[in-house]
Order: sequence, then C-alpha cells, then structure tokens
Amino acid sequence: MPLTQAQRDHFLEHGWIKIPNAISKPIIDEWTKNVWVRLGWDEHDKATWEEEYVKMPRHREIPVQEFAPSAWEAMCEIVGGEDKVDPVRERYHGDQFIINFGSDYWDTHESPPPQELRGWHHDNDWYRQFLDSSGNALTIVHCFTDVPPRGGGTWLAEDGIEAIVKYLYGHPDGLDPPFEKILYTHIKDCRKFVQVEAKAGDTFILHGLLPHTHGVNHLHFARIITNPHVNMVDPFNLNRSDGNYTLCEQVILRALGRESVPEYKPTRERKRRVLSRWSANPGMYSL
Ligand SMILES: [Fe+2]
Repeated sequence: MPLTQAQRDHFLEHGWIKIPNAISKPIIDEWTKNVWVRLGWDEHDKATWEEEYVKMPRHREIPVQEFAPSAWEAMCEIVGGEDKVDPVRERYHGDQFIINFGSDYWDTHESPPPQELRGWHHDNDWYRQFLDSSGNALTIVHCFTDVPPRGGGTWLAEDGIEAIVKYLYGHPDGLDPPFEKILYTHIKDCRKFVQVEAKAGDTFILHGLLPHTHGVNHLHFARIITNPHVNMVDPFNLNRSDGNYTLCEQVILRALGRESVPEYKPTRERKRRVLSRWSANPGMYSL
C-alpha cells in the first residue's frame, strides 16, 4: 500500500516514519526464542547479564520483502522505487540483534538530556560521504520487543539533519570517516529530539542523514532491535529537470532551503571502503 500523504509529510517534516506491525509475530517469536541461549545468560537472573549493550552476529536471514513487506514497500517508495535499490547489499534482513539491557546503575540514575548524550552519528562508515551519497539512503530500526518510554529507545535529532547537509554542501571534496568530531558537534544546540517508542513488530525508517544515538534503558529489560539499511545503486539526483524528487532527496533539498542544487558536483572520486563497522570505536555506533 502506498504511503499516505500524512506519512509522506511526516517523513519530510521529521526525517523518519514508523510502520506499525511491519514484522510478523511468528518471525519475531522464532528468531527471539533462543536469544538467551545465544547469550549464555539467565533471563531471570540479572546478575548474569554481563554487559549493558550487546551486538550479536547474524544466524538467520530472509529477503527483506518477506521479513517486513509493508516496511519494504515504504522504503522503496521513499527512495523512488525498488529498481533504485542495490540488488545485493542488505537485501536480506536477519537476527543480528542489538540488545540494550539497562543496568543496576540506570535503575536509580537519570539519563543526561539528549543534547549531552554521547555517540551521535549517522550510519556511514563504508564510503566517502558527499551531499548526494546514497550508499546509506535509509537507516532502518526493526523492533523485536516493545520499546516503552525510558526503555532504551534510540534518540533522533530531527533538527540535526540541516547542519550535516549544509556542511556536506560546502565540502564537495567529500568526507571520509570517522565523522564524529566534524559532523555532530551541533547536536548540543538541537532542540527537536524524539526517542523511539514502539511495540514489537514496528519498524522505523530514518533518512540516512538523520543523526541518532542510543538511549538509556531505565527499565532493565532486554530491548531488542536490528539496524539494517537501504543502499541505492546511484547517487541522489539533486537537480532533476522535471522536479520529481524522491522523498529522500526532498529532505536534503528542504534542509538546504533549495529547490535544486545544479551547481553541486563532487570534486573527488567516490570511494567505498571495506572495514569492520564496529572495530574502530565500538561505542560510537549504538542504537
Ligand atoms: Fe546508527
């Protein structure tokens, strides 16, 4: 089913949308039923929970269109069609769970305000970032458990896109990772923060340039998500003669306050790099 006008408007205004009940309950039940075996911890004895935050390897995967059909349809619409999506990379979504458990400490201590949280980022450490880079067009958050208020949901900085987009516009030579000391220093001045709240089975679709970071889980339970992406074949086109921009492109143009940017041209070659997403600084890339 196509997105409603309200959903399209929400994506443009906020940089994200939520697709409720995107993942079927049988998949959630099947994929999560042995998670405590995989962890080697006792679900009912929190003293055995050795880490506050765990990223697990992938054991199972199925094509995204089978895993979350309605969310997949929405993803395709936002980037301009299925034929625009990389036919291989991240076309299977799996059970590489990201689990935020909380801790004894967070049971009794308040979280800093979102402006002061660490780890703000957008998901790109595998290619040279230009304004029109679409290697990560969309960041996806699949929720395998409920994510209640104060339950460790991902924080989003809705007004954090603008400064990123303007920086990239002003640097057509592109930017190589890591970006932490460059692209996210403005988060302390942002005002429009929202924290993911969800029911198990909900999927969040975030614009690839929407900065986010992990939230504190005060409820001390296993909040389980996965975090795949939508990768496109070609760069964004920010100079369409017919003005028929995709929603992804519209978010960028809106943040620039422009209707097109015909003058923008990357001045260095586009590059992809092969590296472990988590190896350089595992604390930086949390959800
Ligand atoms: Fe992320």
